[in-house]
Amino acid sequence: MIKMEDIIREGHPTLRATAKEVSIPLSDEDIQLGQEMMEFLVNSQDPIKAEELDLRGGVGLAAPQLDISKRIIAVLIPSNDPENPEPILQDVMFNPKIVSHSVQQACLGDGEGCLSVDRNVPGYVVRSVRITLTYTNALGETKKVRFKNYPAIVVQHEMDHLNGIMFYDHINAENPFILKDDVLVLE
Ligand code: NI
Repeated sequence: MIKMEDIIREGHPTLRATAKEVSIPLSDEDIQLGQEMMEFLVNSQDPIKAEELDLRGGVGLAAPQLDISKRIIAVLIPSNDPENPEPILQDVMFNPKIVSHSVQQACLGDGEGCLSVDRNVPGYVVRSVRITLTYTNALGETKKVRFKNYPAIVVQHEMDHLNGIMFYDHINAENPFILKDDVLVLE
């Protein structure tokens, strides 16, 4: 089971490396890793488990954060609708690739955080508001999916980890809250 001590923190060189594609068909090892990554996210969002295991809540995790330089990400975005408890997005993505993105950009009004960053880094992280992603899922199926708004932002944050990019690399150093007029601020 993945715990907080398994997650490497900023300054570790693996977080700055370009991760390698996984082989397709997927190995049992990679499938299992994906399952463990998703289990971590599920536990981290369960108030009882999170407290018991001392986990910080997360909506995404990338294999390089476990010091495993492979192109695997897990994303779990919980429902915000009590009538429909199904997660907005829950999948493990192998070799994800952004095949197109909107010109329109957006950022989260509250900025971003990361399980590999133990400090608050204020500022707007500007990303594409919509992306189209291809990836292989844990069943070995090739997927092509369009994401917008919050899920698109989360996926781009996790994808960055596969390319050695941290969220704060996108923040304007001089003025963290400067924005071009046409950037949407998502609340
Ligand atoms: Ni992160």
